[in-house]
Amino acid sequence: MPALIIGSGYGGAVAALRLSRAGVDTHVVEMGMAWDTPGIDGNVFCNMLLPDERSYWLRNRTQQPFGYLLNLPVDRPIPRHTGVLDSENFAGVRVYQGRGVGGGSLVNGGMAIVPRRSYFEEILPFVDAGEMYSTYYPRANAGLGVGNVDPAWLEHAECYRYARTSRDAALRSGFTTTAVPNVYDFDYMKKEQAGQVPPSALASEVIYGNNHGKKSLARTYLPAAVATGRLTITTLHKVTAVSPAPGGGYRVEMEQLGTSGAVVATKRVIADRVFFAAGSVGTSKLLVAMKARGLLPDLPDAVGEGWGNNGNVMVARADNLWAPKGPVQSTIPVIAIDNWDSSTPCFAEIAPFPVGVETWIGLYLAITKNPNRGRFEFDSGTGTVGLDWRTAQNQPSVDAARSVFDVINQREHTTYRSDLFGVGKVWGDDLTYHPLGGCVLGQATDGYGRLPGHPGLYVMDGSLIPGGLGVNPFVTITALAERNIEKIIATDLA
Ligand code: FDA
Repeated sequence: MPALIIGSGYGGAVAALRLSRAGVDTHVVEMGMAWDTPGIDGNVFCNMLLPDERSYWLRNRTQQPFGYLLNLPVDRPIPRHTGVLDSENFAGVRVYQGRGVGGGSLVNGGMAIVPRRSYFEEILPFVDAGEMYSTYYPRANAGLGVGNVDPAWLEHAECYRYARTSRDAALRSGFTTTAVPNVYDFDYMKKEQAGQVPPSALASEVIYGNNHGKKSLARTYLPAAVATGRLTITTLHKVTAVSPAPGGGYRVEMEQLGTSGAVVATKRVIADRVFFAAGSVGTSKLLVAMKARGLLPDLPDAVGEGWGNNGNVMVARADNLWAPKGPVQSTIPVIAIDNWDSSTPCFAEIAPFPVGVETWIGLYLAITKNPNRGRFEFDSGTGTVGLDWRTAQNQPSVDAARSVFDVINQREHTTYRSDLFGVGKVWGDDLTYHPLGGCVLGQATDGYGRLPGHPGLYVMDGSLIPGGLGVNPFVTITALAERNIEKIIATDLA
């Protein structure tokens, strides 16, 4: 086959669309499910209040980002199933990732932010920023269907009371706030608020999928690629090895999974070109293992290096009784506190705590400038790849977040909640939604994602970004993939 793509998240979906539109017969192999069939409740996805077997990837128990409330554990048993959200546990960090056709777009909050140009230039200095900001970011935003909440509606919508109260507290403390674009259909959300359509963002749906309203990749790039007639997608197949084929091209080995996670078959195919788009963790694990096992021996030593958590740390404040957050909160964040231009840069999203009752909890996901990096390492004893990252490496992120929230708490006479991330634990510093790096552009690959020493192998996903971006990453992953695939099609496939 001419082109095989491993994974159907942002990098994979862009490659799929552009290759198939260029006339290349393309095959996507995705380890997760298609997520196109309703369950017995009539919904494809379950919500955050009642997680069932659809929620987690092969776990017997939920592992919620905040595992406690009032210091009591909230996780519950679930049937083991190939659910949509993977909480992948490494020694120092839990990495949340989407599993299924659409990858992270199925489970994420849809926040679609272009980073500050100056910071983009700092982290990827050899990429032409002029081109990125004039061509590829706009192309990504258009392809993803990015839009903005109506500012007038935001000011009175009940479902954004939480965002307004937390914004106003930040403003009173002298911080700047900014509107955050999103791929959610805000006209649909207005109808949800008015009770005219089945609710999704207003029905606590997000990290286990949205049944309505969100323009995931399964509603944008991927159907456009399928419409070319040149794309096929195989689900519940996990790629386990890639190696040069004797007659040219690459042999791709995979396991077919049942929905309980059992391997029901092993298969191999030959592809002329292989695009790694399994996400920062998935691509890095595969390539580190292939190098260590001698299957792709010429990969650069930089493969597996430069991993970061985008400086993620979560924190919650117990707000004042006169600042209620509202019992029904939109799961789609639209405002952030922007303290990036300070000595302790911090971009903190005002996040919902959508449990259906008033909690006075002000929740935040902070993105900070953490210089620490981890690396993926092959363990020859177990044959698996681990991530060398210690929770203590997230201390700079905690410090940066503290520089914002200590000020707000002092001004508002409020305190941190210490009952959500563990008993007596204030900081959600041991989890990330934003794994980045591991196959950094221009280090593990050339300037366009080509893997040196192995012509026809490419990296397309978040593993290209050097560990931190200053904002949520999927628009940049999409824009970089647009840039790189355009070059690859023009030069390697001409
Ligand atoms: P991505 O992870 O999307 O896709 C990789 C795909 O490859 C997956 O579908 C996976 O199943 C598949 N795969 C992996 N290994 C494989 C193998 N061996 N064989 C076959 N298939 C394999 N970002 C943002 O910008 N705004 C936001 O609001 C949020 N919010 C958010 C919330 C939550 C809960 C999460 C978990 C994440 C976010 N993110 C986010 C992060 C964002 O979703 C993430 O950065 C992108 O999805 C990464 O895109 P990639 O293309 O790198 O991989």
